[in-house]
Amino acid sequence: MSTSNSGLDNATHRVGHGDRVFPHFLENRLQACEAELFAPRKNKKPLVLGNCLPGPDAIMLQSNDYLNISNHQAILSAQLDVLKNAAQNPVMSAVFLHEDSDKHEFEKAMAEFTGFESSILCQSGWAANVGLMQVIADSSTPVYIDFFTHMSLWEGVKVSGATPYAFRHNDPSHLERLIKEHGQGIVLFDSLYSTTGDIAPLRELIDIADRYECISVVDESHSLGTHGRHGGGLVDEYGLTGKVDFITASLAKAFAGRAGIICCSSRFARYYPYMAYPAIFSSTLLPYEIAGLKATLDVIRSGDDRRRVLHEKSGYFRDGLTALGYNIASMSQIVSIEGGLESDTELLRDALEERNVFGSVFLAPATPKTRSLMRFSLHSGLEMEAIDYVLRVCEEIRDEIGMSNWKSTRRNRTAGT
Ligand SMILES: Cc1ncc(COP(=O)(O)O)c(C=O)c1O
Repeated sequence: MSTSNSGLDNATHRVGHGDRVFPHFLENRLQACEAELFAPRKNKKPLVLGNCLPGPDAIMLQSNDYLNISNHQAILSAQLDVLKNAAQNPVMSAVFLHEDSDKHEFEKAMAEFTGFESSILCQSGWAANVGLMQVIADSSTPVYIDFFTHMSLWEGVKVSGATPYAFRHNDPSHLERLIKEHGQGIVLFDSLYSTTGDIAPLRELIDIADRYECISVVDESHSLGTHGRHGGGLVDEYGLTGKVDFITASLAKAFAGRAGIICCSSRFARYYPYMAYPAIFSSTLLPYEIAGLKATLDVIRSGDDRRRVLHEKSGYFRDGLTALGYNIASMSQIVSIEGGLESDTELLRDALEERNVFGSVFLAPATPKTRSLMRFSLHSGLEMEAIDYVLRVCEEIRDEIGMSNWKSTRRNRTAGT
């Protein structure tokens, strides 16, 4: 008897979960994942996982804790104090919170930090982007989105039912052409791209959004805390705060926590909790998490030295790779080498791991299928000797494997996630 279609004929397989053969619609998906991700690799693990676990002396270039503060004593103490002393935790959705909550207090501080009237604390950057898009767009809204904008904003567009019009990466003239064709809508892009580390032409994009009276949303996940005055972000650095409608950010990058934020007008913040599904149907953060974020904000505000060191070290590393002949699109602490084909990225990953250097492999759906890459995330605490070592390793790999695979970073890019 066939196992396809009805799924009922699989009943005999339901004895133990491990052996369960699912109905064909799921079985096909799992088998496609096996064939695509697991089977082609020598170690039968997906490429992103690598062959070995990093040892204690490994050089780790995978973390988004750019200012190296995740173990900061003041942040840990703030969390512990609340954990030890809280009489009771409000385990509930944000929609039920009154105005004097610690969440609101943190939101006020984040608004002041970014120069917006208000802010909304969310459970993650993903929840912030999906919730925001669900509230501000519907099936009648044209949404203009940079090809490489983070998947959470693409997902938000999908959830909203709006039609996305993708403009070429960092190409304001393409954005303008699309707006002229499809009319007033919403413009979405990242200020600093998580895959290649390049920075958006913020002034030009916001100027166009402004001229055509569009709403603008800038994802500052990788620039909030690291860029701008006292870490206030790139929108702040470019003096665009008054012209941008919303910035969103994951607070799991420079803020090294588990949360997200939407910065916006007070009027919008008033309605959001009653309209956004993540605020209504998903629980809010716990008090110790908010206490940690409050302490983190203080550390970030007073972290000019950490930022300066981060930018100096990132520039040194980028210049070093460029001098070795690698074509680097990065303008920031995120520095990627584009392997192109997965097999080339695998070669690069293995060569790095053999030398005790661990970056992050990016593949579809995070990049276009033929544009996989190896990402190095730098942080302010990295020793210069470690950076020099990674550069020497990259030189060795260049001489051992050759450069032709890794030369095409910027010029040939066409599409993104
Ligand atoms: C640009 C960008 N936006 C949003 C997110 C989602 O953030 P979170 O991990 O807090 O859900 C990420 C995380 O990868 C990101 O890089």
